Amino acid sequence: MRGKFISFEGPEGGGKSTHVAALAEALRAEGKSVLVTREPGGTRLAELIRGLVREELEDPPVTRAEVLLFLASRAQVVANVIKPALARGEWVLCDRFSDSTFAYQGYGRGIDVQLLRELNEFATEGLVPDLTILLDVPLEVSRARLAERQRATAAAADRIESAGEAFHKRLREGFLALAKAEPDRFVVIDSSGDRDDVDRQIIEAVHGR
Ligand SMILES: Nc1ncnc2c1ncn2[C@@H]1O[C@H](COP(=O)(O)OP(=O)(O)OP(=O)(O)O)[C@@H](O)[C@H]1O
Ligand SMILES: [Mg+2]
Repeated sequence: MRGKFISFEGPEGGGKSTHVAALAEALRAEGKSVLVTREPGGTRLAELIRGLVREELEDPPVTRAEVLLFLASRAQVVANVIKPALARGEWVLCDRFSDSTFAYQGYGRGIDVQLLRELNEFATEGLVPDLTILLDVPLEVSRARLAERQRATAAAADRIESAGEAFHKRLREGFLALAKAEPDRFVVIDSSGDRDDVDRQIIEAVHGR
């Protein structure tokens, strides 16, 4: 039987990486075989692309180049990691997927979302998650968590993280609009609250399907 494919989406600092790891652990405890991956990244080539899109370059990618870099990374991870795992019957949890392209390059940078859908379909060969968990947090929470992470790890904000407030506002609204348009695929969870509570809501959502 084909495995299940769950993507995690949402603004920066919403807790995707944290809760992907927690759900993977919970599913493994139920005896399921789980593969965790992330975007951009998940294969050697895709991780190299991740480095490129995050770097402060003298000639940062123009928006169209940014779209194609993310899609190249996605095509690679879909073909070489996600599809084979699903075919083996594994559960695949992905930290960001297609909706991040629609939110960042569509709502955030103003590229036509319908055009992005078509390009994305080419990259993914039409693969759509069975369930998408949108971890939603207000801008202030997202900012505070990023600042805390930068303090804790002494890491500077990357090129996209340091985009302006208006960009991040459009991003969050974009994610919410995407969820509203596909209520059967999305579950929206307020991730500003207690971490264990968010974990419980995620597990409930997964079992509910
Ligand atoms: N529900 C929660 N309650 C409190 N803190 C949380 C919660 N979820 C995550 N955090 C904390 O918020 C910070 C950001 O979480 P995380 O790195 O998982 O977010 P992310 O969505 O993966 O961010 P990015 O988009 O930048 O990768 C971390 O310090 C994490 O420990
Ligand atoms: Mg993360």
